[in-house]
Amino acid sequence: MPMIQMDRSDDVDVIRALSVDTFAQTFADTNTKEDLDEYFANNLSRDELQREIDDPDSVFLVASVDGEPAGYMKTNVGAAQTEPMGDDSLEIQRLYILRDYKHHGLGTNLMHTAFDMARAQGKTRTWLGVWEHNDPAIAFYKRFGFTRCGSHTFVVGHDRQTDLLMQTPVPARG
Ligand SMILES: CC(C)(COP(=O)(O)OP(=O)(O)OC[C@H]1O[C@@H](n2cnc3c(N)ncnc32)[C@H](O)[C@@H]1OP(=O)(O)O)[C@@H](O)C(=O)NCCC(=O)NCCS
Repeated sequence: MPMIQMDRSDDVDVIRALSVDTFAQTFADTNTKEDLDEYFANNLSRDELQREIDDPDSVFLVASVDGEPAGYMKTNVGAAQTEPMGDDSLEIQRLYILRDYKHHGLGTNLMHTAFDMARAQGKTRTWLGVWEHNDPAIAFYKRFGFTRCGSHTFVVGHDRQTDLLMQTPVPARG
């Protein structure tokens, strides 16, 4: 049985490698190389990720399988949220599993961890943004009760894309 761990991380190199690799695996076919490179340089730079790690209202959790980083989740509360959703909410800003580790329950495990974190902080709602054409991820979120509550613009390089906003009440402890 592989050993699966979910640990809070402040290791910018691990987080940068996971962030770039998972984003490229997910979106290389639907974005130009120029837009992706610009996104990596601006939004996933070492400096920007370090700033996000240092924000007390943000948490990075890394999922490892047998000690190897396999995916990660970034959550925000308070003013770190990317929309003004208020103090009753926790945002799952990023949830990404490396291709080779998908469909092994890591995403589900991280989602339950997000609900645990929200509950522990007295939050009543969890929300996220997902690219409108990312059907597998939308289906995954619907399984956890997320429903559409709006949309916002997400910029990849020069491409202005539409993200659906989805939310769900934080479930009672399962
Ligand atoms: C969406 C995503 C986060 C889900 O994570 P995941 O680890 O693959 O999800 P899980 O393994 O927990 O569940 C996914 C599927 O695997 C199945 N599964 C769970 N545990 C399993 C196991 N041990 N063996 C086989 N299948 C399993 C689940 O039933 C589920 O099935 P479904 O897709 O038919 O509904 C992941 O696929 C991902 O990173 N996608 C690319 C990045 C992305 O789009 N992120 C969202 C951006 S907003």
